[in-house]
Amino acid sequence: MIAQLTALLMALLTAFSVSLDTLAAQMAPEGYLMLVNRDYRLPAEYVPEDLVYPQVKHSSSAYQMRSDAAAALEELFAAAKEEAGLTLYAHSGYRSYATQRDIYQRKIRNTKNLEKARLLVADPGASEHQLGLAMDVKNKPNMALNAAFGKTKEGLWLAENAWRFGFIIRYKAEWTDITTYAYEPWHVRYVGKEHAAILQELDIPLEYYVEMLRDTKGEQE
Ligand code: DAL
Ligand code: ZN
Repeated sequence: MIAQLTALLMALLTAFSVSLDTLAAQMAPEGYLMLVNRDYRLPAEYVPEDLVYPQVKHSSSAYQMRSDAAAALEELFAAAKEEAGLTLYAHSGYRSYATQRDIYQRKIRNTKNLEKARLLVADPGASEHQLGLAMDVKNKPNMALNAAFGKTKEGLWLAENAWRFGFIIRYKAEWTDITTYAYEPWHVRYVGKEHAAILQELDIPLEYYVEMLRDTKGEQE
């Protein structure tokens, strides 16, 4: 199984002309493959330098992203409209460390259950929203972000098509043991078109992908 996956990965890297020579740069905070989770946290002072507001419909004022990710989001939302007549709303993009701390503490207060809160919200520094590469997407401005979004026309379209614009669905239901977060059909993460296409094919969490790329690169050296 692992050998088959590795062989498929190698074939896909070749097919998409992905070079592993720049892997370290791609996995650094300014690279689009940077892995952020509870094991790999960002420092409190990290703020991306190229945050912009994507020109898209939005349902909050906190929808900044890094410029390449913002341009890709604009294409994604335009395609949803043109190809399927669907309107998507950007809800939550870049989050500072301080905002993550506020959201985390609020979630613990509201749920009164630390375990449940930690399934839903990252503790400060552990959220990839701090990278400016993630966006929470809604299908209606007032809709709550919950698993039901995955069954809506917009959620289904997003799961099928986000990869074409360089985004992945980062938190699938079956990956909770690895990501440590519950199913989030609304949360897309920009990794760039090549990696998104490969990840769509492999259907593995970013944690595994990054590990496999590191192993592959290590074997080549
Ligand atoms: N809800 C996601 C996991 C976050 O807090 O970044
Ligand atoms: Zn999110």
